Amino acid sequence: MPPSDMTEEEKVFKDPVHGYIYVHDPVIWALINTKEVQRLRRIRQLGTSSVTYPGGDHTRFSHSLGVYEVIRQILLAFDRNGYQWPHHLDRLAMVSGLLHDVGHAAYSHALEQVIGMRHERWSERIILDPGTEVHRVLEEVYPGFAQQVADVIGKRYPNSLVVSLVSGQLDADRLDYLMRDSIFTGVDYGKFDLARIIRVMLPKEGKIVVRRSGLHTVEAYLLARYFMYWQVYFHPVSRSAEVILRAILSRAEEVHDTLFMPHPALQKLFGGQIGLADYLAIDDSVLMNAFNVWQTVSDSILSDLCRRLVDRHLFKYVEFPGSSPKVYQEIAHDVESLGYDPRYYCLVDETGTVYYDYYLGEEGTSGKEGALFLWDEERGQLIEMSRLSKPISAIARERQMVRRLYLPKEVLTHPVVGPRIVQRIHQDQDRLH
Ligand code: NI
Repeated sequence: MPPSDMTEEEKVFKDPVHGYIYVHDPVIWALINTKEVQRLRRIRQLGTSSVTYPGGDHTRFSHSLGVYEVIRQILLAFDRNGYQWPHHLDRLAMVSGLLHDVGHAAYSHALEQVIGMRHERWSERIILDPGTEVHRVLEEVYPGFAQQVADVIGKRYPNSLVVSLVSGQLDADRLDYLMRDSIFTGVDYGKFDLARIIRVMLPKEGKIVVRRSGLHTVEAYLLARYFMYWQVYFHPVSRSAEVILRAILSRAEEVHDTLFMPHPALQKLFGGQIGLADYLAIDDSVLMNAFNVWQTVSDSILSDLCRRLVDRHLFKYVEFPGSSPKVYQEIAHDVESLGYDPRYYCLVDETGTVYYDYYLGEEGTSGKEGALFLWDEERGQLIEMSRLSKPISAIARERQMVRRLYLPKEVLTHPVVGPRIVQRIHQDQDRLH
C-alpha cells in the first residue's frame, strides 16, 4: 500500500493502560477488523486467574491492541530522539505486535497441551494460511508480507531489532501484559513506569537497550515481573482452577467417544484431528458452555470436575517440593481408598520461570538475546544489566519452581487420611534436608 493511502481519518480506542490507542495505518485498521483478530475479544488474557482476582477478566484483544500501541510509542520515541532506526520496517513491527497472539488458544495454556501445539505456531499458521482474512489483508500490502510477519513472530526474521521489539527481554508484549494484568487484577506492585521505560530505550548494535540513566526504571520493571509471578501467575487458587481444567480436558478426551459435544469443533479437538477452522471456532464461550453442559452427563468423574470448576469448588493444595515418586504413590493410594480416581483427583502442578536470564560471552558484553544491556554513553559501551544492579543479580538466572499437590478438600479434611498425607510430605521433606 503506497504511503498516500495512509492519510485516513485517525481511529482511537480508549484504554485503561495507555489512555488512548491510536490507529493511523489503514492496514492496522483492516487487521483489527478481521474475524481472526475479533476472535481475541472472546478469549480472556489470564485464563483462570479471575477465580482469584475478579477484575482480571480482560481479553487477548485489548492486550494485542496494547502491544501494537507500545511498539508505536517506542518508534515515535526513537524518532524524537533521532536514533538510527530502519523506518521502512515500522509497519512490519506494528503489525507483528498486533498479531503476535492471534493464534492463542481459548481459556488458557491447558488447551495447548491437549492439542500438542503451541499458540505461537498457530499464530504463524493463521498468518500464512490463504483462507484467513488476516492473510488476505497482509498479502494486499505486498506479496510476501505475510511471510515476513510470520518470520518476526517465529523469531527468524533477519533484522534482530524488529524481532526483539516483539519478543525479547524488554519487549512490547511483556511491557503491555505486565501493566495490563497488574491494573486489571488490582495488584499494584506489578506496576512500573512504562512511559519512562519507553523514553530510555534505544536501538544499539542490533539490540534494543536502555540508557544507563534508566537503570532503576528497568530494575522496577524486572521486580514488577517478579511480583506478578508470585501474586498472579503462580497464585495457588488460580492454579487450582487450571489443574481442574486440565483434568476436565483429559477426562473428556478419555471418554470422548460416548460424550455429547455441544460444539462440532470439540468433536474434532478430542478426536485428534483438529484443523485451523475448528481451532478458530473454539473460544472461551465454547469451552465454558461445554463445562456447563457436562455438569449433568452420566460420567461421574467428568460431571463432578465440571461442577467444581463452574461453582468454584476448587481443589486444595499442599506444597510438594521434589517429593519422591514413592511418596506420590502412597498418597495416590490413600486418595483411591476414599473412592477418588487419583488420575483426576491427586494432581501435581509444576510451574516455573526465570525472571531474568542471561549468558555472557568472554568479553562480558556478547550475551544471548535474553540479556538486557545498558548503554554507557561516556564509555561508549554496552554493559549487561546484572553487573550494575544488585537486586537484579539476586533474582537473575535462578529458575523459580513451584510444585504443589492438589487434592479435593474432602480428602485433605478427612480425619484419618488428611493428616497422614500431610505427614508423609513433611517426612519426605525432612529426609531431603
Ligand atoms: Ni502477548
